[in-house]
Formats: sequence, C-alpha cells, structure tokens
Amino acid sequence: MWEYTDKVKEHFLNPRNVGVIEDADGVGEVGSLACGDALKLTFKLDENERIKDVKFQTFGCASAIASSSALTELLKGKSLAEAEQVTNDDIANYLGGLPREKMHCSVMGQEALEKAIACYRGVPVEEKEGEIVCECFGVTDVEIRRALTDHHLATVEDVTNFIKAGGGCGNCHERIEKLIDEALGRERAPVPKPRKMTNIRKLRLIEETLEREIQPALKKDGGDIELVDVDGNRVLVSLRGACSGCSAAQVTLREFVEKKLREFVVPELVVEEVCE
Ligand code: FES
Repeated sequence: MWEYTDKVKEHFLNPRNVGVIEDADGVGEVGSLACGDALKLTFKLDENERIKDVKFQTFGCASAIASSSALTELLKGKSLAEAEQVTNDDIANYLGGLPREKMHCSVMGQEALEKAIACYRGVPVEEKEGEIVCECFGVTDVEIRRALTDHHLATVEDVTNFIKAGGGCGNCHERIEKLIDEALGRERAPVPKPRKMTNIRKLRLIEETLEREIQPALKKDGGDIELVDVDGNRVLVSLRGACSGCSAAQVTLREFVEKKLREFVVPELVVEEVCE
C-alpha cells in the first residue's frame, strides 16, 4: 500500500476547486479515461491577467486528485508567467511529498497547465523537444533524460513511476534502458550472438545424448537404439532388442527419445525410425 502524507489524504478527501469554469479563459485536458488518468483544468483571469479562479476535474487515483487539488491552490493569484514556473516538484512538495510510484500524477497537472495556458494564448502547445521514445504515453528522450537527472532514476520502473513512460505495452523498455545506461555512464556487455550449430557439432551432440541419456534407460528394459544417419534436423534411428517391434515404440520415440534430443541438441530435431 502507498504511504500518503496527511496533506495528500486531506486533499483527496476534501479536494479544493473541483468543477469546470464555463466561460474559462484557458482549458487544458490531458490523459484519457482509457489510460486510467484524465485531468481537465480550467482557469479565469482577472483584469491584470492573474488567475482569479481555477477548477479541475480529475479521473484517477487518490494522488491524482490530491495533485490536481494542490495545483489549483498553487495557481490562484498567480500571473501566467508565474504559473508557467510551477513544476511537478512544486505540486509534490506542496503535498509534503508523493510516493515514488505516484510522482507521475503531479506531472499530469503540470501538462494540463501548459495546455491551458497555450489555449488562452491561442497558440498550439509547443512541440515536445526530442524524439518520442514511449509511444503509449508520448514521452520523448529529452523528457526521460531530464527525469533521470532531476530525480536520480536508475531503473525503467523508476522512469514509469515518475513520467509514466514504459507503463503500457513495454515496447520502449529497451530504449529507456539505453538512456539510463547513457545517463549513468554504464556500458552494457553486448549480448553474444547464439553460436550457429555446425553439422559436426550437431552429430556429436546427438551421439553423446543417445549414449548418456537415452541408451541406458532403454537398456534397462532390454531394448536399445542405434543412430543410422542425420539429415538436417531429421535423426534416423533404428530400435533394437525389446524396443524393436514393441507396440509402444512410436510413443517411446516421440515422448522420450525425441524430447531428450531436442532438450540437449536443438529443439527442431525430428526423430524417425528406419526399418531395416
Ligand atoms: S511504448 Fe512505452 S509503454 Fe508502450
């Protein structure tokens, strides 16, 4: 369970400034119900272009609601220039801190504010700097690098907690890991390419597996097996002793011999009995 401060709990249970200003000067919406977090922020300015009223509607968890409530309190009375300086850390600090896993809730408030100010100014929201790394949440490499430095993050999970990147399909995890390595000045050992199995090595492994894993078991029941040939991934064998002509021979080949060879050699092998 998350450890919430008393102030988070208080703002969650008694959120300030809930609602929508109908004749708002600025409106900013972020998130979506489908993602589980959505926030609509509206504000009204006075004649000096200071925020005289601000309201929010949030769909989300306790910390999302508390963060939105805190944001509106922070914004009241501020000029737009001052409002633009409000960061997600200010929101978290106002609440006496947020659990690490919930820091992204404060980021949502900051983004809604940026949108609302852009809406008031009649300008499009500034294009995000950098290249999108996380398609699910539209997070760029520049934002990830910033979060890594500002908050000393060291894992993909940390990044997800703070800015949501990586919290969806997971396709971006590798790129996030690279950015983390870069930020920490770490070099990851290259993943060795799997060695291609040569025919000679395959043949040797098949012989070894037959000798070590298969023949002793068959011999215990009076049977045996002999390798006749190997053709690509086809292993041609001949059953001997009690195994030859046994009604369960095909089951033994499939369920025991083939499985062992696949386990110790390559998973593509198919065992076939050659009748002499
Ligand atoms: S692309 Fe980042 S979680 Fe889906």
